[in-house]
Amino acid sequence: MTSVQFKRVAERRGARVVLTFEGSAITATSGDSVLAALLTHGLLVRRHEFGDEPRAGFCLMGACQDCWVWSGHGGRLRACTTPVVEGMTLFAQPPAARDE
Ligand code: FES
Repeated sequence: MTSVQFKRVAERRGARVVLTFEGSAITATSGDSVLAALLTHGLLVRRHEFGDEPRAGFCLMGACQDCWVWSGHGGRLRACTTPVVEGMTLFAQPPAARDE
């Protein structure tokens, strides 16, 4: 179950961008970080690798590595420092974990 925990304090101007996360389409504004796009839609980033706790980033500046997501090509990205791109496909787990 997801709920929106983050709301924009001000609307941003820019092109509408559509990306997918775990197979669901979400919209963002050009210039948003992937983390901002996910959290404003109430989506957790991933589950903790040593438990089942939801993770949603911590430092928001590329230092803590708590916001890893995986691209459809298999590469790992920091959601907090990666800008959204039209058509990007992202997953909460690495390819090997998704194939199980
Ligand atoms: S939230 Fe810390 S590296 Fe992204």
